This record gives sequence, C-alpha cells and structure tokens, in this order.
Amino acid sequence: MKIILIGARADGQAHVALDTALAQGRHEVLGFLDDTPELAGSEVLGLPVLGPVAAAGEARDRGATGFHVAIGDGAARLVLGARLEAAGLEPVSLVHPTAWIAPSATVGRGVFVGALAVVSTGACVCDHALVPPTSFVSHHVVVEEGASLSPGARLAGRSRLGRAAFLGLGASVLPDRTVGPGAVVGAGALVTHDVADGTTVVGVPAKARPSPSDRP
Ligand SMILES: CC(C)(COP(=O)(O)OP(=O)(O)OC[C@H]1O[C@@H](n2cnc3c(N)ncnc32)[C@H](O)[C@@H]1OP(=O)(O)O)[C@@H](O)C(=O)NCCC(=O)NCCS
Repeated sequence: MKIILIGARADGQAHVALDTALAQGRHEVLGFLDDTPELAGSEVLGLPVLGPVAAAGEARDRGATGFHVAIGDGAARLVLGARLEAAGLEPVSLVHPTAWIAPSATVGRGVFVGALAVVSTGACVCDHALVPPTSFVSHHVVVEEGASLSPGARLAGRSRLGRAAFLGLGASVLPDRTVGPGAVVGAGALVTHDVADGTTVVGVPAKARPSPSDRP
C-alpha cells in the first residue's frame, strides 16, 4: 500500500516510524504531511513534505491510500487519525519485523509496534496506540486507543493502559492494575495501585506528584 506519515519530525517518532516502515517492507512511504510552516515544500529524511495535514486529499490524489500518525502525543494521534480517516485514508499499523506479537493478540489500526517489542498472549493494542522498541505488553493486557508506552516500559498481565495515557521510559505496571485515561506515569515509576484518570504519578512505588503549592 502507498502511505503517508503524519508528522515530519526528523529527530522524533517520524524517523522511527519511517525506519520501521522500511524494515517492515509492506508499504511504500510517499512522504509526510506536517503543519509546521517552515517544513512546507521541504524534504525530510529524503522524502517530500507534501503539505499540511489539510492536504490529505492531494496526497490521496497522488496515490496514497493509507496513513500512519508518527507523533508521540497520544491524544493528538487520535484527533489526527479521525481527520485523516474522514479524508478517505486508511490507518495503517507499522510493526517492526523483530517485534513479537502473539497469534492470540489483537492489534488495531494505526498502531506502532517497534523493534524488539513484545505483545503477548491475548493482549489487545487498540487503534493509534504506541508500543515502542523494547517495550513489553504482557498477557491479556489492554492498551487503549492512543495510549503510549516508552522504551523499556512494561505492563504486567491483565493490566490496562487507558485511552491516551502515557507510560514513561522503563516504568512498570503490576498485574491487574489500571492506569486511567490521560494519566501520565513518569520514567522509572512502579505502579502498585490504580492510577486515576488524568493524574501524573512518579517514583517507586508510584505516587501522585505533589503540585508546587503543596511543597514545603
Ligand atoms: C513525570 C514527568 C512527566 C514530569 O515532567 P515535568 O512536569 O516536566 O517535570 P519536571 O522535569 O519539571 O520535574 C518536576 C519535578 O519532578 C521530578 N521528576 C520528574 N520526573 C520524575 C520521575 N520520572 N521520577 C521522579 N521524579 C521526577 C523532578 O526531579 C522535579 O523535582 P524537583 O522539583 O524536586 O526538582 C517527566 O519527568 C517524565 O518522567 N517523563 C517521561 C519521559 C519519557 O519517558 N519519555 C520517553 C521518550 S522516548
């Protein structure tokens, strides 16, 4: 399939996604769409920036039938994913050939699964979720729409990462725990209790980060 990448950040997820698409070898990447005015008409990573996101129709006219949103912010991935689908393009998942996805696992549309990542038995990774290199989604875990892990992060059996929630570098979630929608788990944290929607937790065990006004 001919696809476009949404987001052209050469030192970010766009580069990782492009590398993964090339390694996967199933899709031809025609170029990028990106709203950054300075990128208009330029080349990034050897491919053209075809225009802003609003130019999805023109990309379709050039032969693109699919897209992948290659940006780190999960809530933004969901918004952009809906826009691109409304423009008639199909969300495409990129899965690195060194990742292991159990035959009984479910991977949605527009999902990213990076090198050496694991999506284990019975797990479900929903649309536009991000499972980056070396991250670990254990058995019967649910990674909801637009949720993001970071490299080295681990979700233990039957745990759940809520819609557009974020799990930082090397953070871990114990079995059966839920990280609520929009919550942020800081790098290196260990989640031992459920994390409420939209809250930020850090540390071992993970605790809500005190707001500046609570500090001595
Ligand atoms: C938790 C997090 C979201 C907070 O971000 P932030 O609001 O910008 O926080 P700041 O950097 O301003 O730090 C605020 C305080 O929290 C502390 N802090 C920040 N991150 C922390 C973490 N992961 N664990 C423990 N303490 C942390 C800082 O030391 C600082 O404490 P201080 O005020 O006593 O000096 C962020 O630090 C984090 O862990 N992000 C994950 C990044 C990541 O893994 N990215 C993956 C990309 S591949």
